[in-house]
Formats: sequence, structure tokens, C-alpha cells
Amino acid sequence: MKERLLQYLACPACDARIRLAEVTATEDQQIIKGALACEGCAQTFPIKNGVPRFATMADVGEEKAAIASKFGWEWKHFSHRDEKYAEQLLGWLNPVQPEFFRDKVVLDGGCGKGRHTSLAADWGARDVIGIDLSDAVDVAFAATRDRENAHIVQADICRLPFARTFDYAFSLGVLDHLPDPLEGFRSIASKIVPGGHFSVWVYGAENNGWITRFVNPVRTGITSRLNPRTLMHLSKIPTALLYLTTKLIYGPIRRIGGQSAAQRLFYGQYLSSISDFRWREQHSIVFDHLVAPTAHYVTRRQFEEWWECIGVHDPVVGFHNQNSWRGFGQINNFQEGAGLSINGG
Ligand SMILES: C[S@@+](CC[C@H](N)C(=O)[O-])C[C@H]1O[C@@H](n2cnc3c(N)ncnc32)[C@H](O)[C@@H]1O
Ligand SMILES: [Zn+2]
Repeated sequence: MKERLLQYLACPACDARIRLAEVTATEDQQIIKGALACEGCAQTFPIKNGVPRFATMADVGEEKAAIASKFGWEWKHFSHRDEKYAEQLLGWLNPVQPEFFRDKVVLDGGCGKGRHTSLAADWGARDVIGIDLSDAVDVAFAATRDRENAHIVQADICRLPFARTFDYAFSLGVLDHLPDPLEGFRSIASKIVPGGHFSVWVYGAENNGWITRFVNPVRTGITSRLNPRTLMHLSKIPTALLYLTTKLIYGPIRRIGGQSAAQRLFYGQYLSSISDFRWREQHSIVFDHLVAPTAHYVTRRQFEEWWECIGVHDPVVGFHNQNSWRGFGQINNFQEGAGLSINGG
């Protein structure tokens, strides 16, 4: 942990400032082991392996802990980098471009292995903080520790240990894996400064009927219950099918006939978009779809209602690859606990 992270932290329980209470090991001017303490309620939080830990699996509840344990395994195993991550990220963040990050304080909500935290740091963020509930934070820390403007924190997205401090926050493929996606959405919004911006990408319900009808029962009933290592091996079978189809059909058709030709095929826009990925990345995508105990598929209307809940009435919403929703909006002055709510939440 870099000491400059302290300026952004606040107690998740009482919102007071957080101070450095103890340092027992340092490396390359970073705190590797130590403790933080709240100046209000005096609660302490350990720093382990360079990462401040604001959440423990014992405290977050069974469902969140189960989700985090699966994703922790995923990112420790699939810790590779792919040169296409930047292009993929810009697809999810559209209309945001790399220049948008310059000099901003940025939150990556649910950073996984830190692939986007490192890109945000490289694109000139003043500071970017990646948070994740799972052990993936260890992979994310290793991937970002050499960038002086990148920080990794272990925390629950619904109990963020930050002051209202972010000029820009993004959360990609995370809210759909929360027991209550809207709770996480509101929680992040409450940490964005008035006038700051927010980007979110989630699975769509539209055009994914074949997944919700046929794949989801297999995921919830079988694959998410398997030992992750077993699933990793088993998922090579659907990956082989995906790999052959995208390399032999979707990729070539897109190259010869263009995007509009590929789009006419089943699930064409998405499958042609991943056709350039190597085996390892495609395997990681298949595993990711099968491992999560919880996955919500969100309709456009629901997604727009989330934005209305935080007082954003004109988000830029797009149907990405014809299977998912991306949104971008400017936050006025959303206060957690205020504004409209859905489900009485
Ligand atoms: C599909 S992965 C996406 C990771 C990353 N955004 C990316 O695209 O590489 C979902 C991530 O959300 C994290 N996550 C799930 N529930 C969370 C929670 N309650 N708080 C913080 N992170 C959570 C998981 O640990 C996992 O790393
Ligand atoms: Zn406190």
C-alpha cells in the first residue's frame, strides 16, 4: 500500500478518517504489512501482502462470500494479460476515451485481476483505486504495484471505505454478480463528487434468452457448485467449441464481409468481437460465465431505472455487442439513502 492512498480512505462503519496505525514490513516504499485505524470508532483494518483489508468473508454474508471465493480462484488462475484488453475496455466504457482519465481520481469497482486498474493508471489518472471483495486483490496488487498512481483495496462494493472523492468511477461485469445490484450501484454513486462521472457495464436480459433459459440452470444447478479446478478442466470442452467456431467462422466472416455480415450470424456481434482472442482468454470467458453462483441479466428498462435512482436522467445507454448494457452518466449530488428507489430499497 502506498501512503498516498490514505487521503482517500474513510471508515466504512462511521465515515471518519483513517490513519496509519502500524507498519511492520515495507518494500519498495510500500507498506506490505501493518494496520490502519479509524479516527472515529477506533476499528482497525489489517494491511496484508500490500493490500489494506476492509472486508472479511465472515462479515459479508454467505452469498457474497461464495461469489468472492469463485472469482478469487478465477483471477488467480487466469492472471494472464491480453493485448486486446485496452480495446475491449474502451468498448465497455464508450463514449469514454483514454484522455478522459487524465488527472482524475478514479475508482475501479470490482477490479478482479486489476487489468483495468493498470490501464487507467497508464492513461494518466491522478490516482486509480481498484477494489475487490475476493482474493483477486493479490493478483491485482502484483499487476499494479509498480505504478505509483495505482492502489488496490479489499472491500465490499456495498461498504466502500472511501470519502466522497472520485471524479470518475467505473464498474464492469460486477454489479450483475451482487445479490442486490442496485445496492452496489448506489453505493458507488455515493462516492462520486458532484459533477463527476460514472460508467457501468452489465449483462443484458435482451437477446440472451438462450442463456437465461438453457445455460443459467446449468450454471446455478451444476457448474457454480463444482470445485473450480474441476470446472476449469471441464470448461475446456465448450471453450474448444467456441474457439473453433470463432476462429473458423465468425472471425473470417467479419474480416471478409465486415461487421454487418458477422452480425447476421447467431450471436454474431459478440462472437465476432471475441474471435481475435487467444485460447486462454476465451477459456477465461467461458469459465467466468459458468462459475458465478449469482448472475443477473438486466433489462434496458431496469438499467435506466438504476440511473434514475441516482438522479441521472440522461445517461448515455448503449446495447453493447447486442448482449449487454453499458451506461455513462454525470452525477449531480447523489446522497446514499436519498433519491428514488426500486423495490423499496
Ligand atoms: C466478472 S468479474 C469482473 C472483474 C473486472 N471488472 C474485470 O472486468 O476484469 C467480477 C468481480 O466482481 C467482484 N465482486 C463480486 N462481488 C463483490 C462485492 N460485493 N464487492 C466487491 N467486488 C465484488 C468479484 O470478486 C470479481 O472479481
Ligand atoms: Zn469508524
